[in-house]
Amino acid sequence: MDISRRNFLKLGLGIAAFAALPKFTLAATKKTGAYHYSIKVMHTKHCFKNNQVIDIMSYNETIEAPVIIARQGQPITIEVTNLLDEPTTIHWHGLRIPIEMDGVPHLSQPPILPGETFTYRFTPPDAGTYWYHSHVNSIHQLGKGLSGCFIVEESQPAKFDADIPLLLRSWRIDEEGGWLPLTTPKSFRSGTKGTMDTVNSKSIPTIEIPERSLIRLRLVNVDSTKIYKVILAGRKSKLIAIDGHPLESYRTFENYQVAPGCRIDLALRSPVKDKTIVLKANDDEKILAYLKTVKHQGIPIKRSLPQLPPNPISQYKQNRKEYMFSFTWQGGDGWTINGKPLLHISQDDHGKPLKRLKLGKSYTFILNNNTQYRHPIHLHGHIFRVIENSGGEVGYWTDTVTLGKSQTVKIAFVADNPGKWMFHCHIIEHMKTGMSGYIEVS
Ligand code: C2O
Ligand code: CU
Repeated sequence: MDISRRNFLKLGLGIAAFAALPKFTLAATKKTGAYHYSIKVMHTKHCFKNNQVIDIMSYNETIEAPVIIARQGQPITIEVTNLLDEPTTIHWHGLRIPIEMDGVPHLSQPPILPGETFTYRFTPPDAGTYWYHSHVNSIHQLGKGLSGCFIVEESQPAKFDADIPLLLRSWRIDEEGGWLPLTTPKSFRSGTKGTMDTVNSKSIPTIEIPERSLIRLRLVNVDSTKIYKVILAGRKSKLIAIDGHPLESYRTFENYQVAPGCRIDLALRSPVKDKTIVLKANDDEKILAYLKTVKHQGIPIKRSLPQLPPNPISQYKQNRKEYMFSFTWQGGDGWTINGKPLLHISQDDHGKPLKRLKLGKSYTFILNNNTQYRHPIHLHGHIFRVIENSGGEVGYWTDTVTLGKSQTVKIAFVADNPGKWMFHCHIIEHMKTGMSGYIEVS
């Protein structure tokens, strides 16, 4: 049996839940005990509406990118072949892996040129919900489809009856079903928003879940621009993890602002068959998807909700060096971090890091949003704790923190991964127009 199949069985997915997952087309091999996948990055035809067939970019041929399943503490290899007519790379968002595997062109690896294959090899130290996406020509490559879900199972997988990724994004599609421009002169504001919201690449899908079961939902915002404040109507659920990392105490889920790059895990007990739970977003409570209960195959087991084990994140020291970062709009010069935009990195010129950190030392970063727009700020290769926040959540671990208008957030972490790590806004047009830089840890 190949490993993709084996993993499905281990997740204990019923037939119904299986159908809900983005198509799993990974050519997983039988290499003993290893998690091995191959991905082809390619141009694909797709129709969103009105029989209008358009060009998208895909991982393995369909608009629904394969869900990669890895296991905490076990090596995984992912062979990536570039069949596009432009360079690409894959960044494994939120995974603490060596810099050579981080997928940032020039900073961590040469871009994968058309026709080339690059094999990513790493061992994920943390369990949880992550995602992967292109880090080259990002407005275009993310805008046209290059992103997917990356699940790292706990080293002793937590038991749920169904485990369902829900990838949120919005596409720039016009009335006829053709592409709208992916970026507009307004990009300096909140970014160019999509016009067609989808969950797992479908507009308002009905996703079947088994009745009377313990369900884990993994919501991932893979959009380049939109912040989704999500609500689940019709059933109580618990927020069990934020950005991959289990909450120390679960709490009743009300709503959560999931910004580009961010994830939340929810747990719920599904009702009897033929009931509908509705995933909605934002203040207008726009419907994103229906979750419909279907007959359970076999007899439902009464499971108790497992407490997910914490990930092995280094504990920072009391005594920490403090650095301030201000996120600003510099008029004509565009977006910046500390007054400097990072627009271009080449193979032999990486420019200057925003900061140099000492390997193994603890740091506090004070992040100041000096703008009227929101910015989800992402640090590669590290997990940090939000310890103070002038306008939101504190006391959780993450790789991406959302700064609201004029908001200040303090984060703390140990610089325990050597390399040059991108530090940028995950609203892709902000990143591309300068709200980007890197931190060097050595
Ligand atoms: Cu998910 Cu540098 O990004
Ligand atoms: Cu931004």
